[in-house]
Amino acid sequence: MRGTIIAGTLAFVAGVNAQYYTNQSAPFNLVLTSQNTTLNGSTLGSCHEGAGIEGLCVAGNVNDEFTGPLNSDSGSYTFNYTTTQATEPTGVNVTGLLTWLLVGANFETSSPMQLDPVPTSNVAVPLLQPSEEGQLVAFDADNKLVIVRNVDDTQPLPNYSFKALSNWYACTTDSGYLYQTLAWVVGTETAVPQNPTCQKVEVVRVFV
Ligand SMILES: *[C@@H]1O[C@H](CO)[C@@H](O)[C@H](O)[C@H]1NC(C)=O
Ligand SMILES: *[C@@H]1O[C@H](CO)[C@@H](O)[C@H](O)[C@H]1NC(C)=O
Ligand SMILES: *[C@@H]1O[C@H](CO)[C@@H](O)[C@H](O)[C@H]1NC(C)=O
Ligand SMILES: *[C@@H]1O[C@H](CO)[C@@H](O)[C@H](O)[C@H]1NC(C)=O
Ligand SMILES: *[C@@H]1O[C@H](CO)[C@@H](O)[C@H](O)[C@H]1NC(C)=O
Ligand SMILES: *[C@@H]1O[C@H](CO)[C@@H](O)[C@H](O)[C@H]1NC(C)=O
Repeated sequence: MRGTIIAGTLAFVAGVNAQYYTNQSAPFNLVLTSQNTTLNGSTLGSCHEGAGIEGLCVAGNVNDEFTGPLNSDSGSYTFNYTTTQATEPTGVNVTGLLTWLLVGANFETSSPMQLDPVPTSNVAVPLLQPSEEGQLVAFDADNKLVIVRNVDDTQPLPNYSFKALSNWYACTTDSGYLYQTLAWVVGTETAVPQNPTCQKVEVVRVFV
């Protein structure tokens, strides 16, 4: 019964649109840690994937013909949360949106990260695009970017089981252009990316 109430509440929150996560953290960079010393310490930057759509590219490995070299603006992110859930955004397990400010010639618009898996791959590419909704994420006690699982469907349901997952990889992806981007492998923490270019990374928030 309690589980049912939790699920119902989450469904409600997920369905809320119209500017629910209106409180915003200080800006931070997203820095990779990896066993691969070339990737370890790389920062992520927004790179053009389509009109108003950015991927999260591994800086230094990107030849972005649209925005040129990744710079401090392309690598500056914020966390949108709501004070109805938390009084400050650095709290562990506070869920909210990873946001980036898309600056055009005569407009600025908040672009939350979204994850849109495609049915034919288990590698989902996070994309930033103008919206009032996006993928709910959180940061753990080590400032690592995580997505919280609420239900363990490897067990017979109902099986409510909260767990912070970090299925992040750096992969060569094509969501418009061929780049080395951040990617999320769909499934449990032991899921193996079907894209052979994927290398395991963690994503760490470093306030600027
Ligand atoms: C994030 O918060 C800022 C500051 O309130 C707001 O301008 C922006 O629209 C919010 N972004 C989203 C996607 O809700
Ligand atoms: C959180 O956002 C609400 C609505 O935008 C605003 O009234 C409030 O002052 C904000 N609180 C903080 C701590 O930023
Ligand atoms: C990655 O970088 C961090 C910080 O510089 C360092 O502590 C860690 O040992 C590095 N890891 C590897 C595998 O090189
Ligand atoms: C480490 O990462 C770089 C950049 O993605 C890649 O070229 C290289 O092959 C990787 N090294 C190993 C041992 O996987
Ligand atoms: C989840 O499934 C496991 C394995 O079947 C079981 O031991 C556990 O009690 C279940 N938990 C809930 C909350 O249903
Ligand atoms: C955060 O969530 C994890 C489970 O994903 C839990 O083990 C941990 O105790 C939580 N931390 C806090 C401070 O709530």
